[in-house]
Amino acid sequence: MIRKMRRGRLTLCLAFGFITLVIATALLIHTQCLKPSISYYQILEEHIQNHKPITEKRTKYILLYTNFFEDKLWKLPTETVGPDYFRATQCPRTDCVLTSNHDLLPVVTDYDALVFHIAEPWAYSVFRKVPSVRSSRQIFVAATMESPAHTKHLLGGDHDFFNWTMTYRLDSDIVWNYNNFVERDSGRVVRPGKDLQSQMVGHEVVFNQTLLEMATVKTKMGVQFISHCETFSRRDDLVRAIQRFMEVDVYGKCGTMECPRDSPRCAKMLTDEYRYYFAFENSLCKDYVTEKMYYAMQSFIIPVVFGGADYTKFVPPKSYIDAQQFATVQDLVEYLVFLAENPEHYIKYFWWKDHYRIADTQPFCELCQKLHAIGTKEKMQYYKDIKAWWFDEACWMDAKIKF
Ligand SMILES: *[C@@H]1O[C@H](CO)[C@@H](O)[C@H](O)[C@H]1NC(C)=O
Ligand SMILES: *[C@@H]1O[C@H](CO)[C@@H](O)[C@H](O)[C@H]1NC(C)=O
Repeated sequence: MIRKMRRGRLTLCLAFGFITLVIATALLIHTQCLKPSISYYQILEEHIQNHKPITEKRTKYILLYTNFFEDKLWKLPTETVGPDYFRATQCPRTDCVLTSNHDLLPVVTDYDALVFHIAEPWAYSVFRKVPSVRSSRQIFVAATMESPAHTKHLLGGDHDFFNWTMTYRLDSDIVWNYNNFVERDSGRVVRPGKDLQSQMVGHEVVFNQTLLEMATVKTKMGVQFISHCETFSRRDDLVRAIQRFMEVDVYGKCGTMECPRDSPRCAKMLTDEYRYYFAFENSLCKDYVTEKMYYAMQSFIIPVVFGGADYTKFVPPKSYIDAQQFATVQDLVEYLVFLAENPEHYIKYFWWKDHYRIADTQPFCELCQKLHAIGTKEKMQYYKDIKAWWFDEACWMDAKIKF
């Protein structure tokens, strides 16, 4: 009886041992023999060999689908520009054709990109609506240099329409800012962004006697050129508040004085007579820094800026005065008066001129480059809700400086 039981247990033990052995062997075979046969390196290696980057030689065609305000040519020299134009603007890629001639290619789906100006209502005739057919590899670009306060095309109807944005905002696919700083020695363009100022430090500021003399002969305080009154930012109210404490001459439609901004006489007046150029934006919007500020910086005058941008992303350190950094108008004016009375401090704002110059931006250059980059990468992108992207948290009603 006992022996029988022992034998039963023995059989059980043997069976259990056998099964364990089988499982262990199977595991061993699996981990040691089978797994290594799935070679990840080999997968990558084969992929690399089979997907050699296609060095796409094909020229990219860009159609300027709408006008840029009244300008059909978008400030280009001719209706159609090609590689010569891109070479002249020193683009890394030159194999692009940019045209406003809708009949350059046989069908609209032949163009690699279509550019739409969203600052104004679609202003084409009934014969030229939004294309009814579109190729899936085509890029529709929403372009504007105006702020959301001046976006007159209603974006609410453009769901799933635009693939790329081309605006002054730094989070655009193609950044179309107003001007750039270029390093004089190297020709290097310093792009706007978080690290702009850190790229511009380390220059020794040398005292310049000529500048001191130029500052000393200035007799007037502030100057402003304005053609749009009653703006979203209430910049005219701010100027009036400043005028209570110091003199500001306002030129243009909303002012009392006249001087065409582009005339050499006006530019000379900025250098010779005035100390501060009020470059106030029409709306307080993220990254919105327009030509006013860059225009002032071409002369020998300190720009006093007012806008929604973080100016440290756009302008060299200590080259401008940001009104939004002051709590009140009195504080701002107090500082402006201090600099006016201390020209040796005033001239420190021009240190950057020895090292940098201001240059135009080339958005189409970047567009051309980017179109070639997607040729080899099958990445699809479009804006589900472009209105939200453009308007949400983009602008502010209230200024930080009280007035
Ligand atoms: C002083 O400033 C003037 C005017 O910007 C400039 O032409 C000149 O080169 C500067 N001189 C020195 C020594 O930096
Ligand atoms: C462009 O956007 C459309 C959606 O509107 C999409 O179907 C298409 O694939 C996109 N193209 C690319 C190249 O991203």
